[in-house]
Amino acid sequence: MEKARRRRLILAAGAGAAGAGMAGGYWWWRGKRASEPLPPDPAFRNALRLPAADGMYGLLDPQAVTAIVARPVRYRLLDGKIANLLAYRVEQPGRVLLNPTFRAPTGANIDLTFWNALEDPGIIHWHGFKVDSNNDGHPHYAVPGGATYGYQFVIPNRAGTYWYHPHPHGLSGYQIYRGMGGIFIVEDADEVALQRALDLHLGETDIPLILQDKHLDAEGNPVFEPTPAARFQGYLGQEVLVNLTPRPHLDIASRLYRFRLLNASNSRIYRLAFRHGEQLVGFTVIGTHGGLLDRPRAVREAYLGPAERLDILIDLRNAVRGDALTLVTLPFDSARPQSANGSAAPGRKDALVQHGGPVPEGAEMELARIRVRNEFAYDRSVPSTLSKIEPLRPDASPPRPITLDQKDGIWRINGLTYVARQAPIVVKRGAIETWEIRNLPPTMPHPFHIHGFLFQVRSRSDSPSHVRRIADPDTGLTVADLGWKDTVLVWPGETVRIAIDFSHPYLGDQVYMVHCHNMEHEDGGMMLNLKVKA
Ligand code: C2O
Ligand code: CU
Ligand code: CU
Repeated sequence: MEKARRRRLILAAGAGAAGAGMAGGYWWWRGKRASEPLPPDPAFRNALRLPAADGMYGLLDPQAVTAIVARPVRYRLLDGKIANLLAYRVEQPGRVLLNPTFRAPTGANIDLTFWNALEDPGIIHWHGFKVDSNNDGHPHYAVPGGATYGYQFVIPNRAGTYWYHPHPHGLSGYQIYRGMGGIFIVEDADEVALQRALDLHLGETDIPLILQDKHLDAEGNPVFEPTPAARFQGYLGQEVLVNLTPRPHLDIASRLYRFRLLNASNSRIYRLAFRHGEQLVGFTVIGTHGGLLDRPRAVREAYLGPAERLDILIDLRNAVRGDALTLVTLPFDSARPQSANGSAAPGRKDALVQHGGPVPEGAEMELARIRVRNEFAYDRSVPSTLSKIEPLRPDASPPRPITLDQKDGIWRINGLTYVARQAPIVVKRGAIETWEIRNLPPTMPHPFHIHGFLFQVRSRSDSPSHVRRIADPDTGLTVADLGWKDTVLVWPGETVRIAIDFSHPYLGDQVYMVHCHNMEHEDGGMMLNLKVKA
């Protein structure tokens, strides 16, 4: 009784309006023995895939890897069906991993050969890593089918949840959509201290959640057939897979959990929240792209654009067996151009038409169900300090203007599109610049990404009201803007200022890139080379 009363208080703390969410079925299972499995939930039939010793997203020390192969694989996505995916495959003594979840300390030595066993060109980009151009996985370095590429670098980044994915020009969206990509976790002393303080274990109580909306055909094959409208706006799917699991549930203990959310969707933006009946349950943001924040921030929702990561804690220590939360994306005004929402052109007989159209961006969707199976005595508390983040002090030079716009249906950066041999943005190694990014209407949201460097978001102005509502009134920033970032979501009409430190230890000129991480925009050329002059 005591526990139940406390639980009401805790869960209600996140509630906006007085709701009636506690009624009914939650109490039904309480009498059962804690070790018994929970009854099946017909809406969330499949156990969430977790990184294990082998198989999809299996845990692996990248220092032990000598070869990683991009290739077609046969994989069970739907019950009793075998789908054709593309994946990164690593063989280790006694085990085979697909899209491994890499985990290594800052300073670890990576020395591996990428073998492209696809028919198309391929290359791996280590998203968020501050490596030299030879190791960045820039599309320049894409190799043809059958060829190899060698990577050799020391991980320079602070701890964080990074990721890796294909980057051959014009094909990145297709290859990611068909299944390629994985998480790369870097650890340092602050990170290890947090894991110890909170008793977190990767794959058990520290869980990566890779969000991807897809169209699956009846066999579970991801169907990548964007119409011209979807090439313009970004390709949206019909359902969201989490760790390649459709309709996933995760059965947990009543304690604190960490989720590392990665939006690996081609173009969908999520407005993430946890629902308990009609109420929202608060959570704590502890990190973004380049690792831990200075201190934890309690929130009830956060936006997550393509390529972005959000590191969160959710405290369920006062929940009881049978309690359930749903990870959702809440509705918002997507501000995509209204004429088409990415659905198939009328009369076109393709998989989209057969299986129904895509779910529009900004529509509410349930992503995963989290259910308390065991009650657990958990007594740790979240440290009030997580890490140290020194604010960058930009040079005195005026901000560098970056415009995002569209002409004749082509998305552009500073009025330009990608030309492999040109570098329209040139910066001096060691400079600390301010960039002022403006998203000029008529437009849609663009997740703006920079290779090779992390940055700090300084301010956001002229934001749409649904962003302003959750923003700091002085800076315009939301929780997703804090910490070290490699991608920033720029909403229609907004001006976003970021500070970037272009110092790195690499000698000679280095060529990176900036691009929109809406994969259809990127593949369509909303991407420019960025040269760092030695
Ligand atoms: Cu994930 Cu060029 O980026
Ligand atoms: Cu990147
Ligand atoms: Cu874009």
